[in-house]
Amino acid sequence: MTNSIPHGGHLINRKNINANTSHITKHINLDVTSLSDLELISNGAYSPLEGFLCSADYYSVLHEMRLANHLIWSIPITLPLSKKEAELLKINDKANLVYDGCVYGYIEINDIFLPDKQKEASIIYQTLDRNHPGVDKLFNRGEVYVGGNVTLTKEIKKPSFLQGFQLEPAEVRKYIATQGWETVVGFQTRNPVHRAHEYIQKLALELVDGLLLHPLVGETKKDDIPAETRMKSYQVLLAHYYPQERVLLSSYPQAMRYAGPREALHHAIARKNYGCTHFIVGRDHAGVGDYYGTYDAQKIFSTFPKEELGITILPFEHTFYCIKCDGMASHKTCPHDTSLHLHLSGTKVREMLKQGTTLPKQFSRPEVIEIIMDAMKKKD
Ligand code: ADX
Repeated sequence: MTNSIPHGGHLINRKNINANTSHITKHINLDVTSLSDLELISNGAYSPLEGFLCSADYYSVLHEMRLANHLIWSIPITLPLSKKEAELLKINDKANLVYDGCVYGYIEINDIFLPDKQKEASIIYQTLDRNHPGVDKLFNRGEVYVGGNVTLTKEIKKPSFLQGFQLEPAEVRKYIATQGWETVVGFQTRNPVHRAHEYIQKLALELVDGLLLHPLVGETKKDDIPAETRMKSYQVLLAHYYPQERVLLSSYPQAMRYAGPREALHHAIARKNYGCTHFIVGRDHAGVGDYYGTYDAQKIFSTFPKEELGITILPFEHTFYCIKCDGMASHKTCPHDTSLHLHLSGTKVREMLKQGTTLPKQFSRPEVIEIIMDAMKKKD
């Protein structure tokens, strides 16, 4: 059984499928980010959250990186509405949570407040630059936040490529128990799988019992490779290059924030809730452009006591393919000149794909390249 205890002590379950909501007359329209947050709150991935943040938690997360009850929390999980929508609501109301005309749950409203978005952007994203996709989304969303506990009343419909890969925290924990893994490392990714990913996952697998390969499949920025292609590429990689009995591939439905260090901490805590004892943080985790330093996402963990985090971070240096070593390496292990190093990153892969260049096998496994190139051709 996994040695990992959920954040706050126990897994939250805010599901009551088929609960009767017909008596609730007010409603709130969700965007795709709030819908995925509703899912992650209700299935316990965001334990100890039971709902969208009220103002006390919101400001505490901003300023202390903790909830008002002092538990570590780094990303404000908020429900933004337009002023017009918010005017129709009051504290103690219940409102149905609606996406695309369908009721997925309800909220018991505990707070309605005007956030300080300038502050939120500069603290969470460390920039006010609208070119940052997380900052742009923050300012495009509604100007009023509604806080309160939520209940999910309808399972959220998922595309067919996720069938079989949608395990919730309790289900992942059960799988870990049946495998007898005591230690499990979580791997977050939003990019097509490349050799650096494989290298650091396998280094971690030398140390722990199991790997939870957990691609983020919620909303990502437009030029990221679609989740369907990424999921397919992981399946083929696992089939050919991984010990089946030591890896679990499942999806993580969070919308990407691109908040660098703050998001790395959030990713780690969510994976703790899924049962991971360890979590990989490589170079520029959850970064975008050059808003964050290469290792900022690793450094943030050292500002908290290990026992409070409750998950062990496995930090990895920037890794690359070295032509002379004829394999993956980092500056910790390779003595050769940087001119012999091929730097592998999702960004680089995307650039080459855009130019129609066939990716070399030093970038990714041939089976993976075939899937990615095929998907790109179909898109054109
Ligand atoms: S993201 O969520 O962090 O944006 P991405 O797919 O780019 O996803 O990276 C997944 C994980 O692999 C992150 O922990 C990242 O730091 C790490 N990583 C990616 N490329 C490298 C690399 N070349 N060297 C070391 N770590 C890497």
